[in-house]
Amino acid sequence: MKCVDQLSAEELKGKRVLLRSDFNLPLDTEGEVADVFRLRQGWQTVQYLSERGAKVVIISHIGRDPEESLEPVARAAKEFGKVTFVADITGPAARGAVDVMKDGEVLMLENVRRDARETENDEGFARELASLAELYVNDSFAVDHRSHASLVGVPKLLPSYAGLLVRDEVAHIDAARAPQGPSIAILGGAKFETKAPLIKLLLEKYDHVFITGALANDVFKARGFPVGRSLLSKELPSPDILANPRFLAPVDVTAEKSDGQAKVKKPEDVEADDKIVDVGPETVAMLAPHLTAAKFILWNGPTGIYEQGYIHYTQQIAELASSASKNNGAQIVIGGGDTIAAIEASGVPQDNLGFLSTGGGAMLEYLLKGSLPAIDALK
Ligand code: 3PG
Repeated sequence: MKCVDQLSAEELKGKRVLLRSDFNLPLDTEGEVADVFRLRQGWQTVQYLSERGAKVVIISHIGRDPEESLEPVARAAKEFGKVTFVADITGPAARGAVDVMKDGEVLMLENVRRDARETENDEGFARELASLAELYVNDSFAVDHRSHASLVGVPKLLPSYAGLLVRDEVAHIDAARAPQGPSIAILGGAKFETKAPLIKLLLEKYDHVFITGALANDVFKARGFPVGRSLLSKELPSPDILANPRFLAPVDVTAEKSDGQAKVKKPEDVEADDKIVDVGPETVAMLAPHLTAAKFILWNGPTGIYEQGYIHYTQQIAELASSASKNNGAQIVIGGGDTIAAIEASGVPQDNLGFLSTGGGAMLEYLLKGSLPAIDALK
């Protein structure tokens, strides 16, 4: 994979560069950007290209509804640099705007998924996109697990490079696939059936693998404990996973009654009216020595339903990880939108939390497979 930092400033000056970013940002109730994490992480490549005189044409998707617009993202991007929004993708307005760009200018086009041909990986659409530029840069790690036209179609048609964010994501997640010991992986989220292959792989590579979030409910259920109203997956963990000596699960939980009252209890004491919403203090105490001794920490998924305020134990784990980085020089890779949002909400400073990945699903797939379709397309 070639990275855009291998091109000289002369090679970039005056060139029209189609930059595929992932600026799929959450919006608030007013329709404005609620969190700029991906924008901040992705802007280094925009700036790098612009400072070298490239004409930077940014494309991205946003949201689940294809009609959603990137305009609020363009507004939020003004915090990082000058950018002009064009409400078009490959039509006359986009072409006209690209044609009159000056060196160093930055243009953001409309949500690339407004054209249904994007997700269909349509060749004609890839050709239209490619015709806007002379070079293609993929800096959209968080969506690089999708085989869409702007991700795998365009690189067949233009000289193609990874952006600085993709370069960094790949380097850190490659390191997480071969962690230095002692190591611990923390994996949360839901849908055990989709996570089982990764859990098996992590059990081979990490000294300890701690399963948390809704995935832990599946562990309790498989062990024959009651889980009350808690969220369960379609499949439960297999006996070989449960019996693995490296496998760790919460030893206590925070359970909420339907009247909203929450109490810490043992998993075996969960009642029919309980919903498991977080781990408990004994679980953090169990993890503490592993985190303190770790040289490598991989973390995807908060311990609790942080959106409902169950953030305390995620915060304590973030503090332990941060100390391991300060005291041991532990390498840390953290990913998943929820994990980053929970850490941000907890107020734990991010300086000692290692590398924060923009990838959710993409990070998990890269961990499992060691590459992604859009990254393969650059090779
Ligand atoms: C994400 O937020 O996970 C990426 O932007 C991918 O979005 P998608 O799941 O809509 O493809």
